[in-house]
Amino acid sequence: MVWLLFLHVLGAILFFGNILVTAFWKVVADASRNLEMIHIGARKVLAADYIFTIPGLLLLISTGNAMAHRYGYPMNEINWVSVSNGLFAITGVIWLAILIPLQVKMIRTSKQSLEQGAVTEAYRAASKLWMIFGSLATLIPLYILYLMTVKPF
Ligand code: HEM
Repeated sequence: MVWLLFLHVLGAILFFGNILVTAFWKVVADASRNLEMIHIGARKVLAADYIFTIPGLLLLISTGNAMAHRYGYPMNEINWVSVSNGLFAITGVIWLAILIPLQVKMIRTSKQSLEQGAVTEAYRAASKLWMIFGSLATLIPLYILYLMTVKPF
C-alpha cells in the first residue's frame, strides 16, 4: 500500500509541478517578445504535457482509485475522495477539450507570428484564453491537494 501512496504523490508532483513550471516559462517566453522563443515556448508547452502531465495524471487516477478501493472509501457518497475524483474529472475535461486545442492553436499562430515578423492577434487571443483556463485547471487540483491532505469531510 505504501508503494501506491508513493506513486500517487509522485504523480501529484509531476502533474502539479509541470502545470506551474510550464506556465512560468510560457510567461517568460511571451515577455521576451522574441518571436522564435515564443514559438519554441508554445511547442514545448505541449511537449511538456506529454512528457510530465499525462504520466502524472495516469499515476494519480490509477493509484488514487486503487487506494480508494483498498481502503474501502465509498465512491457513491459525498466525501473527500469522491469529490476529489469528480473535480479531477472536470480538470481532465478542461485540459483535454480546451487547453490542448488552445496549445495546438498557439503553436500554429506563433509560427504565423514568426513568419509575419510580429505577434498576431490570434496568438494573443489564444494565449489569453490559455491563461484563464490554465489558471482554473491549476486552482482545482490545488483544492484537491487540500482535500487529500486535510480530508475535511
Ligand atoms: C490533483 C490531484 C491529486 C493530488 C494533488 C493528490 C494528492 C494526494 C496526496 C498528497 C496524498 C497523501 C495524503 C496523506 O497521506 O495524508 C493523497 C492520498 C490519497 N489520494 Fe490523492 N491526489 C490527487 C488525486 C486523487 C484522485 C483522483 C483520487 C481518486 C480517488 C485520489 C485518491 C487518494 C487516496 C485514496 C489517498 C490515500 C488517503 C489515505 O491515506 O487515507 N487522489 N493524494
